[in-house]
Amino acid sequence: MVSTLPVEVQSSGNQYLSQRDSGTILSPNQELLPLNARVNHHNSLEIGGCDVTTLVQQFGSPLYILDEQTLRTACQQYRDTFKQYYKGESQVLYASKAWNCLAVCAIVASEGLGIDVVSGGELYTALNAGVSSDKIYLHGNNKSREELILAIESGSTIVVDNWYELKTLVELATTDAAIRMMLRLTPGIECHTHEYIRTGHLDSKFGFDPNDLEEVFAFVSKQPSLNCVGLHAHIGSQIFERQPHRDLAAVMVQWFRDAAKYDLELTELNVGGGLGIKYTESDDPPSIAEWSKAICEVVQAACASLNLPLPKLLCEPGRSLIATACVTAYTIGSAKTIPDIRTYVTIDGGMSDNPRPITYQSVYRAVVANKMSASLTETVTLAGKHCESGDILIKNAQLPKTEPGDILVVMGTGAYNYSMASNYNRLPRPAAVLVANGEANLILQRETYEDIIRQDCLPERLK
Ligand code: LLP
Repeated sequence: MVSTLPVEVQSSGNQYLSQRDSGTILSPNQELLPLNARVNHHNSLEIGGCDVTTLVQQFGSPLYILDEQTLRTACQQYRDTFKQYYKGESQVLYASKAWNCLAVCAIVASEGLGIDVVSGGELYTALNAGVSSDKIYLHGNNKSREELILAIESGSTIVVDNWYELKTLVELATTDAAIRMMLRLTPGIECHTHEYIRTGHLDSKFGFDPNDLEEVFAFVSKQPSLNCVGLHAHIGSQIFERQPHRDLAAVMVQWFRDAAKYDLELTELNVGGGLGIKYTESDDPPSIAEWSKAICEVVQAACASLNLPLPKLLCEPGRSLIATACVTAYTIGSAKTIPDIRTYVTIDGGMSDNPRPITYQSVYRAVVANKMSASLTETVTLAGKHCESGDILIKNAQLPKTEPGDILVVMGTGAYNYSMASNYNRLPRPAAVLVANGEANLILQRETYEDIIRQDCLPERLK
């Protein structure tokens, strides 16, 4: 996409559109706005060929707007890089905890990706979206018997997290067919976004301790009802370095060698997800292709040095597949200026549709969709409408002068926003639309007040 913006308006909302020359291959996780974002001749933000302000008029506010092409591009970049650089078989899974709903599962599956689910609800959604169960992997550190049974009956693979689950599976097994499962291990690599450490023991609620590995392998190898196909590990999220995953992949290949001593024929190696995205100008994650290539190379080199056959290589990114594809549009309402302190500008949502700022102090960037070329003259604090002082979406946002009715667009909201949304203060959850080629389709209906009281029960004696 060619940016036709004159230099003098770069300090407007347009600054968040990277210089996009046709021919440049953009990695969605390195962008702030979706790949199909542009400013139209009304100086208004358009995504997927749809004017954002018009979308809000049509579908209401707040509104999640998901750009189909950005999501598909991220899927293709993962899939194709693994195909290009890995000489064995590979399978990219989408960690659907980032955003699990029918439409997202269907899009991702249509790009050939499998799906990682972490609950019966996510599994049920993926199955109903038509995802083939041989590409579904169920995670979780305390799966219920019902969840395990749903996974077994549907033919999904279970990523076993601990001894309790392992023994429960042996109990649940029938003579029909062995349960397809893999083992999750805690690798002793801990990431805090910009740094990582390697330890012998890791304080994590997830996965088997690697010190128990031999015992676990010995147990599993004696269970005819379990078909253990491989190993899994995940080291963290919003990671910008490549080295932690390189170390992880190398450690995991050594575990494969250890399994061979127990006559376990493991064929699948899953390195988890974790690649970070750009939320602000200073975030500098590697591209999807760079990250994927690094993993492929390390696994191949480690297998060659240990003389092991190449396993089927899996990864399961969430955030880097979907975060940048979505923005949230809000309508600006009240404002309050406290002289010499700050100006609060309030939007019609907040911590119920995006709990990440209040939960993790996450930083976002925003633009005013109907004033994309206006100069950024104001520094304001964007507040949500919840009865909680901490419900602040963005501190010190640089915006043009705003008025009630303006449409504020927060970028990078595709991951862990809708999926972590709540009804705090009994706010109905927003609608979501999928945009592509100038068309918008509803993928999540806006909740109504009726939905809000749907699960309430009023005992007879209170009436
Ligand atoms: N696989 C496993 C086993 C995971 O636990 C996760 C994320 C992923 C894959 C995907 O990781 P990603 O590629 O998205 O980094 N709510 C937090 C993020 C929690 C991530 C939990 N696990 C947030 O909003 O930042």
